[in-house]
This record gives sequence, structure tokens and C-alpha cells, in this order.
Amino acid sequence: MKVPLLDLKPEYKFLKEDVDKQLKDCFSSQQWVLGPKVEKFERKAAKYLGINYAIGVSSGTDALLLALRVACLKFKKKEFFDKDDEIVTTPFTFLATAEVIIRAGAKPVFVDIDPDSFNISPENIKRAITKNTVGIIPVHLYGRSCQMAAIKKIAKDNKLFIVEDCAQSFGASFRNKKLGTIGDFGAFSFFPSKNLGGFGDGGLVTAKNKKDAELIKVLRNHGQTDSYKADYCGYNSRLDSIQAAVLLAKLKHIDTFNKKRIQIAQKYNQAFSSIKDIQIPSEQSAKRREYSVKKRRISENILNSMRHAPCAMPCSHVYHLYTIKVSAKTRAKFISYLNSKGISARSYYPVSLDKMKAFKTAKVPYKLENTNKVIKEVVSLPIYPLMEKSKIDYVIKVVLSFFKK
Ligand SMILES: Cc1ncc(COP(=O)(O)O)c(C=O)c1O
Repeated sequence: MKVPLLDLKPEYKFLKEDVDKQLKDCFSSQQWVLGPKVEKFERKAAKYLGINYAIGVSSGTDALLLALRVACLKFKKKEFFDKDDEIVTTPFTFLATAEVIIRAGAKPVFVDIDPDSFNISPENIKRAITKNTVGIIPVHLYGRSCQMAAIKKIAKDNKLFIVEDCAQSFGASFRNKKLGTIGDFGAFSFFPSKNLGGFGDGGLVTAKNKKDAELIKVLRNHGQTDSYKADYCGYNSRLDSIQAAVLLAKLKHIDTFNKKRIQIAQKYNQAFSSIKDIQIPSEQSAKRREYSVKKRRISENILNSMRHAPCAMPCSHVYHLYTIKVSAKTRAKFISYLNSKGISARSYYPVSLDKMKAFKTAKVPYKLENTNKVIKEVVSLPIYPLMEKSKIDYVIKVVLSFFKK
């Protein structure tokens, strides 16, 4: 049996009627860039997320970049950051998160992650703050929320902005607030493999007030405040109508699809929890920490009963990726065993960003001990909303057979 990491074909089959209808509207209107479909998608996305403004852009990368540029205009009254301005983020993420910091003029500061949640650790953010720190980009990696209460407190105490990188976490929440609505800005990606994905590149920036939202719209269209009147150095970062059309059809099902991801993750968790050589994705540790911050005692039973609720818990997880940890010495053998049995499995991410030449100007204030360890241990297994039961069962069987050999 062949099991890919992600198969988009069943999803298209399921949504075909609506997607095709939405696309036909584009064909007959011949409206391809921005336009009514994009405006409708922006309204629906803002309503779904529970925020005043959502602005469609050409990619998740541009969403992050535009959010940073507007943060700079807002908080520094300048178009670009100074090269000494520091923005704290994680080195355990996709390249785009840090690349945009440099493109916006600032310096990435890489701090260590929590080894269980894989997300940036608030304690380490705190340790890295200097007089030059201007902002934080927490990344809700694999679809799992960062500890946003602690991160918000750090930002407030130190007058820093927050741009949430929600590229992998559309629909996930922190304490009943959707991710991307907690910091100053949220940046989403609609790359086809994302849990809300289009038929090409696309992205979204969320903003809380009209002035910020208007500035994002100006920057996404070459900095023009009026036709041929560019007040800022902007970009061609507009969202296509075709992407908005596809996303309008998919957005209706995002909760159902995220729920299906959670159910598959639960099945995997149940099957793998007894294998001592596998560490299943941990939600517990972050929850415990959030609760301990509030000095509340909460029994193991209550925590367990709430374990996978998508919205009820502080740090919810929508499993854009299902990622386990195995020992560094077993990983390569484990992945090639899965591959030999027809199962795709990969390590996201195999290299820490601070090791890349592109980020040689970045600052690493403390040793990235957890990142350096985790990078050798993570393995992502196949997960997608319409994954057939036979495939889920097959993945479980093959994984168990490796560890029980
Ligand atoms: C965490 C993270 N941030 C940013 C991005 C950039 O999004 P895009 O590929 O849409 O530019 C991605 C996409 O892979 C991502 O995973």
C-alpha cells in the first residue's frame, strides 16, 4: 500500500462541485487579481477568525513581511527597521519566518524551543530581550498554539509587537481565541499543502484596526495610496481571485477537516503511547505550564478529558503535521523502513535556521540545546483530513512492527 504524507485528491473530489462552481465564476468574470472573490474571502475569513480585518496577500511569506513592515511604520514611524533592531523568533521553523526579518531590515534573534511542544519557549524569549528588541514572531508549529498568555505578557512588559506566524495553524486557538488574533498581526499561508490550502500560493494578514489594515492593503499593491501615488516602497503581493475562489469553498469545511486531523492524531497517539521509543506529540506539557502559571491545580483526569478538544484548551492543536520524536540513532533507519513499506515520512525541519549561511547576521544569544537535539529526532507521519481508515491502520501497523521487532 502507498501512503503519501498528504494526498489532496480526495479533498478535491469531496469539494469538487463547489470549487468548480467558484472557479467558473472567475472564468466568466475574467477577474483574476483581487476583486469581489478576494473581498468576499477576506470578509468570511475575518468573521471565522473573529477579527476586524483580514487582508488577502500572495503568500504566507508576504503576509509575514507586510505585517513586519506595518509594525515598523506603526511602532518605529519608519519604513524599514534598523539593522540593530532585534526580532526574537524560533530557529525551528520554515525559512520564511526569519527571512522576512532580514528583508524588513532587522536582525533575527534565535532562541531555543520547548522540546515537547516544539514551540518557542517564553522563558527563552525573556532571556534574549535587550534594549534593541522590537518584536517577537512566535510560530504555531505543526498547527499547535504557542503559549500566548506568557508571550503576550512579555511583549506588554517590554513594549514589543507580536506577529503570529500562523502558516501551519489556520483554525487553531489559544483559550478560545483563534490564533492570528492574539498578537498585533497574524500571518497565514495558503500554500496547497497547508491545512487551509489554495491551488497555488496565497496568504492572509489579520489586523485589529482600520489604519493597520489599510496600510497592509497599500503595501500589497506597490505602496500606492492612490493610483500612481506610491507613498511607500511596497510589493506586488496581491491575492489572485482563483485562490480566493478555492479558499471560499474550503473555508466552509475547515472545522470539520481540522476535527478529522485531530481524530487521526488521537488514533495514532493511542496506538503509539505504549511504545517507549516514541514520544507522541505533547499537548499536556504546555497545558500544565499554562495552568501552573495561574497557580491552579488541575487533576490528571480533567487534563486527559480535555486533551484533544480543538478549542476548549489553552493550547489547541490542529495537526497540520503529526510529528513524533524517536531517538536520533534510530531515525534514519525508521524513515527508510517506513519508505520501504510505501509510507512517506519526513523530518520537518532537518536543519536549524541558525546553521544556514543566509542567516549569518542573526544573533543566537544562548545555546540552542533543545533545538539541536529535536532536529535529529522529529519524524512527521502521513495525516490529511480524508485519509482512509485502511491507510491510517496500515501506518499504525508498520510503525508498531518497526519498534516491536
Ligand atoms: C511556519 C511557516 N511560516 C511561513 C511560511 C511561508 O508561507 P508561504 O510558503 O505561503 O510563503 C511557511 C510555509 O511553508 C511556514 O510553514
